[in-house]
Amino acid sequence: MRVDMQHTLVGADVLASGIHDAKNRLFEAQTLLAQAEAEQGVKLPDARVAISGAATRLSRTLIAYRLLRDQQPMAIVPVTVAELIEDAATTVRTQFERAAVGLTVIDRYAGAWPLDRTLVMDVLVNALQNACRHARAEVTLIAQAREGGLCLGVNDDGPGFPPALPVQRPEGQSGLGLFIAARIAGMHQRKGRCGSLSLSSGGPLGGALFECNLP
Ligand SMILES: Nc1ncnc2c1ncn2[C@@H]1O[C@H](COP(=O)(O)OP(=O)(O)OP(=O)(O)O)[C@@H](O)[C@H]1O
Ligand SMILES: [Mg+2]
Repeated sequence: MRVDMQHTLVGADVLASGIHDAKNRLFEAQTLLAQAEAEQGVKLPDARVAISGAATRLSRTLIAYRLLRDQQPMAIVPVTVAELIEDAATTVRTQFERAAVGLTVIDRYAGAWPLDRTLVMDVLVNALQNACRHARAEVTLIAQAREGGLCLGVNDDGPGFPPALPVQRPEGQSGLGLFIAARIAGMHQRKGRCGSLSLSSGGPLGGALFECNLP
C-alpha cells in the first residue's frame, strides 16, 4: 500500500514536471509569436488565443496540483490594485471582444494591497472568463475596501450561479477555477484573518456576483 502510494506520487510528480515544462514552452511560443507579428506587421489573434488558452489551462492545473499537495509557494507583497485589475482585464480582452460582452473596470480602492500577484491574477482571470461565458452583455470588475480587507468583485448580467455547481463540465473546462480561487483566498492570512470567497447572485448587474475578500 505504502509502495503504491509512493509510485502514485512519483508518477504525479513526473506529470507535474511535464506540465510545467510544456507551460513554459507555450509562454515562450507566445513571446515568439508576438515578435513575429511585430516584425511581419501581421496579426494572428486566433493563434494567440489558442496558445494563451492552453498555457492558462496548464498553469491552472499545476496550481491545483500544488494546492492539493500543500506545495504552492506564496509570495505576498504590496501590489498596486489598479494595475492588478487592469492586467486581469487585458488578459481576457480578446475573449470579451469576441463574445461582444462589455467589461468595466473600477478601482475604488486606489492603493496597494499585500497579496500574491500571480495567484490572485489567476483567480481574477478565471472569474472574468466565467462571467464572460455566462453574461448577456455586461461584466464589471470592482476593487474596493470592505471590513478592513480588500474585496475584488466580478459581477455579470447572466442567470447567476446555479444553486449547486455542476459535476460534469462542458468540453474544455476543468471545473478547477473556483476550487482554486477558494483555496487561494484562504491562503491569504493576515493579522489572524483568512481570505474568503463569496459566490452569490444579484449585485448591480443582477447575475453572478463573485467576491474574493483578502485580509
Ligand atoms: N458567472 C457565472 N455565472 C453562472 N455560472 C457560473 C459562473 N461562474 C461559474 N459558474 C458555474 O460554476 C462552474 C464552476 O466554475 P469554475 O470556474 O470552477 O470551472 P469552469 O469555469 O467550468 O472550468 P475552468 O475554470 O477550470 O476552466 C461553472 O462550470 C459554471 O457552471
Ligand atoms: Mg472557470
